[in-house]
Formats: sequence, structure tokens, C-alpha cells
Amino acid sequence: VGTRPDAIKTAPVVMELLRYSDVVDTSLISTGQHREMLAQALAAFDLVPDEDLNLMQHGQSLAEITCRALARLDEALQRWSPNIVLAQGDTTSTFCAALAAFYRQTPFGHIEAGLRTHDLSHPFPEEFNRRAAAVVARWHFAPTQRAARHLEAEGVGPDSVFVTGNTGTDAVLQLASRSEANWFPEHRGKLMLVTTHRRENWGEPQRAIARACRTLLERFADLLVVVPLHANPAVRELLVEELGQCERARLIEPPDYADFVALMRRSDLILTDSGGVQEEAPAFGRPVLVLRETTERPEGIEAGCAQLVGTSQERIVAEASRLLSDAEAYAAMSRVASPYGDGRAARRIRYVVLRELGISSDAEPMWT
Ligand code: UD1
Ligand code: UDP
Repeated sequence: VGTRPDAIKTAPVVMELLRYSDVVDTSLISTGQHREMLAQALAAFDLVPDEDLNLMQHGQSLAEITCRALARLDEALQRWSPNIVLAQGDTTSTFCAALAAFYRQTPFGHIEAGLRTHDLSHPFPEEFNRRAAAVVARWHFAPTQRAARHLEAEGVGPDSVFVTGNTGTDAVLQLASRSEANWFPEHRGKLMLVTTHRRENWGEPQRAIARACRTLLERFADLLVVVPLHANPAVRELLVEELGQCERARLIEPPDYADFVALMRRSDLILTDSGGVQEEAPAFGRPVLVLRETTERPEGIEAGCAQLVGTSQERIVAEASRLLSDAEAYAAMSRVASPYGDGRAARRIRYVVLRELGISSDAEPMWT
């Protein structure tokens, strides 16, 4: 793991494998690509890395973090000498783990495999990272049937693809009742949660998102807009500049995972460019407006629990206004069942991983 989403979505797999510690040793290695946000995410699951490479530097470029993570992960693999390496998702840490495993010829299993936009610029650089991880993976744990089809279209043999559901759904369901946070009890009106951090949204797109929030605050007198700030200074400075003075905007430090889950449940509407948040909100029937031009998670849009609105100020204002004022449109989005999983993805992954190690364990039918 290296970043907040890696930690949240890998934690259920680590915890599941640790239940089988009599037959398999599981070691959690952190690149430390993120510092505070990673520690916070792991702490929600009471996990501490067995080794922390502690690589984060402020303002790190993609090339810098890639070089350092690859070199240090290679050393770590030499020290730990694993039979199998697992990594989740599409961050630089995941790409480096896949490549380091490949160079050492250690079989690699990719968790959350097969997500694609087919556009290398959206999301950047994640579309490259996940495609590269797929090239070297021996096992592909696809969260949905669509993800599995993407892999098969790229020539991956069906025998190495397992449709497990998303481990993020395991995480969100495990933590749903953990928080004691009581968010904004004094506020009686509607609450809109907004998160944005993607590199392709830095600058003008993020400014348009912030200005759309301002317009919505002017239009809806009972609206509270809550914006947990990402730790990246490039993101937070602009949001503070645009929204810092608005009376009913709350710019807050990123809540830890259990409290963030409680905040999602407290929200009426969620605007986000996050991958994970798009998957988690439908677990609680919260409509999502996706602040991106493309998404690798069209399942939510097809099912009707999410809408792709991009980063045009007018479009965001129009779609959010509709959901804040039209009870029927809101109800239609909020009653859709989540297409992302059933909370049993980690068990499916554990079953396959142990089987590959020659160990039989409780089988779990794959997610359909
Ligand atoms: C990374 C991932 C992105 C993921 C996001 C989740 C890559 C290329 N990008 O983007 O896929 O969606 O994490 O949040 O892997 N920082 C801190 N403390 C932290 C974390 C970040 O101070 O705990 C600051 C540092 O100044 C750091 C900067 O944020 O240099 C950017 O972090 P970086 O890991 O390079 O990229 P993200 O934009 O966070
Ligand atoms: N999250 C959190 N605190 C926050 C914002 C997000 O715990 O203040 C969680 C969120 O529930 C999801 C994950 O962090 O599980 C998503 O991380 P992020 O949006 O940074 O990355 P992405 O999913 O876009 O890669």
C-alpha cells in the first residue's frame, strides 16, 4: 500500500489473510507514498505496516516517487522473499509493486483489476498504472463483470480472472457502524459533501467546481456544503481561496475513514472526483455526481445511482439543483442497489490466493 485508497481497499484482504495465519504469513509493506492520510486509513482497521519505506516528499513528482518506490520495493522483496505479491488499484505504489514483483519474477495478484476509461489522460496517470499492472499480473481480481470483460478483451485468459466485487465495499460495510461522529447536529437543512483531488482537475476545473458550490449556496438558503480537504497543498489552496469565506461552506481536515463513512451517510448529495467515494456512496443510497469527464466506474451510472457531470460550472449547478429540489429525481437515484459488491470480495481473494499456494480454505462463490 502507499496511499489512502490503497490502504482502505487492501485492509479487508490483509485482515482476511491474517485470519489464516496458521497456514500463511502475510506481511504488509507500505511505500509511504502518503504519510498522514495513509496512517489514518490503516488505523481505521487497526493495521500497522510490517515495513514502512516512508517515501513521501512534499511536492513529489510522479517520476521521483516512481524511482524511489521501485528501488526500495525491490530491496523489500529481496528481504521478505514472498511467494506471492498482491497490490490494489492504480496508484504509483501499485504500479511499482507490480513492476518490482515482475523484475524478481514473483507472481503478482492485482486487486481491483480491469477498470478502464481507455483514455490515458483520464485519470492521469492511473489509467497507465492499472494497465501496466495488468500486463504483469498472474491473477486479476476484477470487481465487476465489466472489468473482467475489459481484461479478456486485452487477451487475458479467463482462467486468471476472478470476479470478486470491490474490496472497498467490504471496507465500507465493515466500518459503517464504527464511528461515533455526529456531524453538524445543529444543521437542519440539506448537506452536500464535496471531495476533489484528481490531477486532471487541478487548477481551472477545480475552480469551476468551487464556484458551482458558491452558486448552489446562494440558490439554496438551507444548504450546507462540506469539503474535506485533501492533504495535497496544490488542491487545498485553491479550495480555501474560493470557498474559505462562504458562510455555509465547511472546509475540514480529512476525517478518518470511519468518520468519513458517517459523513457520507449524513449527506444528502455527494459531488466527487474520487474513485472510492463513487463506489461507497451507493452502499448507503446517496446519489453521486461524478466531477470527471470520464469514469472507469460506469456501473453506477448505468444502474442510476451516479451521474457523470464533468467539471463545467453550469452543468454541476444544474444537476445538483435538480437533485436538491426534485424529490422524485432524488428518490429515483437513491433507491438503486450498489453494483460494486456484496462485502465478500476479500474472502474470494483469500480463497484463490490460498488455493494457488496449495492450501484449501472455505470457498466463496464469485460475485456475479
Ligand atoms: C495519489 C494517487 C491517486 C489517488 C490519491 C488518493 C498516484 C499517481 N496518485 O494522488 O491515484 O487517488 O493519491 O488520495 O499514485 N500529501 C501529504 N500527506 C499525505 C498525502 C499527500 O502531505 O498524507 C501531499 C504531499 O505534499 C504530496 C502531495 O500531497 O507530495 C501529493 O501526493 P501524491 O501521492 O504525489 O499524489 P496524490 O495527488 O495524493
Ligand atoms: N476518504 C476518507 N476521508 C476523506 C476523504 C475520503 O477516509 O476525507 C476515503 C473514502 O471513503 C474512500 C477513499 O478515502 O474510501 C478514497 O480516497 P481518495 O478519494 O483520496 O482516492 P481515490 O479513491 O480517488 O483513488
